[in-house]
Amino acid sequence: MEENADGGDASVVPYGRCAAELRPTEPVISPLELLRSEKVVRICAPMVRYSKLPFRALVRRYGCDVAYTPMIVSDSFVQSSKARDVEFTTNYDDRPLIVQFAATNSADFARAAELVAPFADGIDLNCGCPQRWALADGYGAALMKKPELVADMVHGARTRTSLPVSIKIRIHGDLRETVELCRRAESAGCGWITVHGRTTKQRAEPCNFDAIKIVSSSIKGQIFD
Ligand SMILES: Cc1cc2nc3c(=O)[nH]c(=O)nc-3n(C[C@H](O)[C@H](O)[C@H](O)COP(=O)(O)O)c2cc1C
Repeated sequence: MEENADGGDASVVPYGRCAAELRPTEPVISPLELLRSEKVVRICAPMVRYSKLPFRALVRRYGCDVAYTPMIVSDSFVQSSKARDVEFTTNYDDRPLIVQFAATNSADFARAAELVAPFADGIDLNCGCPQRWALADGYGAALMKKPELVADMVHGARTRTSLPVSIKIRIHGDLRETVELCRRAESAGCGWITVHGRTTKQRAEPCNFDAIKIVSSSIKGQIFD
């Protein structure tokens, strides 16, 4: 490991130094291109507290094709350079990278997307976080009840960056609502949709693969579980 003056890993670049220090990398295969290919794509799902840069570097070493950041709350990311430095670090090899945000409105999501766009290969909106604080504040799975807002957020981020924008959802008790949410997101330009096949209330219950299949066959684009 190359060390900096503080004894830290010099290859780790916090957000504030990204623009200055991250020279253009080798061409990166776009996640959409990978997902449209015939090959099996190994994706490391977003995990709060885990999928930070060192974890992503580790899974990439073991053949991960695409890695997500943990969910990053977009309003503090937009407002505070300190939050940006703490929440987003990357390096030359950290590609393809999907940056996942929690957001409650289109303006914050689009601005956060724009801020990370030079260092990312896709932007994801978390519509599945079931934690009580998230639901209370309108983040994560709270968005599953607001398909119009989700479509507006997808459209906003698409307009402000050239990156694919995706959403990650859970399933509703009534799958017709899930299909409606997916159709609206797709019409707004959503690049792909990741379905965690559990409802907001479920934790360790078996994943509902039949539900994923139904949702997947109801839309034109790509669904992943
Ligand atoms: C510790 C932990 C943290 C997670 N954090 C996130 C997150 O930040 N964003 C997200 O969309 N999903 C998050 N998830 C959900 C996972 O991405 C994944 O969808 C879920 O674990 C389902 O896969 P499994 O059945 O293999 O556990 C998290 C899951 C775990 C276990």
